[in-house]
Amino acid sequence: MSQEMIKLVNVKRSFKDKGILKGVNLSVGKGESFLLIGRSGAGKTVLLKTILGLLRPDSGTVHIEGQEITQLTKSKLEKVRLNFGLVFQNSALFDFLTVWENVSFFLKQHTALTKGQMRRKASETLALVGLKGIEDMYPYELSGGMRKRVAIARAIVYNPKIVIYDEPTTGIDPIAVDKIVSLIKDLHSRLFITSMIVTHDLDTGLEIADRIAFLLGGRIIFEGNREQIKESKDKRLIQFMSGASGGPIKEMEV
Ligand SMILES: Nc1ncnc2c1ncn2[C@@H]1O[C@H](COP(=O)(O)OP(=O)(O)O)[C@@H](O)[C@H]1O
Ligand SMILES: [Mg+2]
Repeated sequence: MSQEMIKLVNVKRSFKDKGILKGVNLSVGKGESFLLIGRSGAGKTVLLKTILGLLRPDSGTVHIEGQEITQLTKSKLEKVRLNFGLVFQNSALFDFLTVWENVSFFLKQHTALTKGQMRRKASETLALVGLKGIEDMYPYELSGGMRKRVAIARAIVYNPKIVIYDEPTTGIDPIAVDKIVSLIKDLHSRLFITSMIVTHDLDTGLEIADRIAFLLGGRIIFEGNREQIKESKDKRLIQFMSGASGGPIKEMEV
């Protein structure tokens, strides 16, 4: 079996003739904590959706645990997708469901657990993300940071092999951001998962990642560990690093 959890080979994808991914090569190892960075609009979410089989590439291939998923049928793709836990940017919780019902949503869909078993599993998972005694509350009663935690609990309740976070700290205050970053780090080491984090905010990501890739102009133009990213002399990377935390967004030469 492959030691690569996620692999993309020369993936291209356009929207209305505008190339967004122009030949992306990427591999994420099993158990790795992988950070994908890039400006707003660079194509990070498009890349994630391609990995999840939600978007088909125009050309190139996507492999999950050695299995090529690019041409799979819908039902086979859905099976592959069970390997993933997803925390999307506006990780919308269902307003009309309680916290524990939100967390156990995928259990209800994909397992034959009883209500009592699901509630217990939801409580255990909520405890893992640092939340106790809020099972019967509704999302609107929670702070932004707590809602993110609930969304993370929902993503990991099914014991996924890979957890994907798309801009996990958007829209919450700086103190909550630090806590969510520590939580992602903590879950990564405790659950033996592969984590893929996507952000345009370097402060969020750098302390979490074993390996970092920088998406620019539709390609991965840098890949390396934290030390390598800090030592890189690549002008485009340096410019991104200095401007990433709220600096002006300029068109960069590719
Ligand atoms: N379904 C779609 N149809 C048309 N254009 C899209 C679609 N999805 C993404 N795009 C375009 O692709 C570009 C990259 O988007 P996205 O991946 O969301 O960027 P980000 O790096 O901020 O996540 C944007 O210009 C966006 O408008
Ligand atoms: Mg995005």
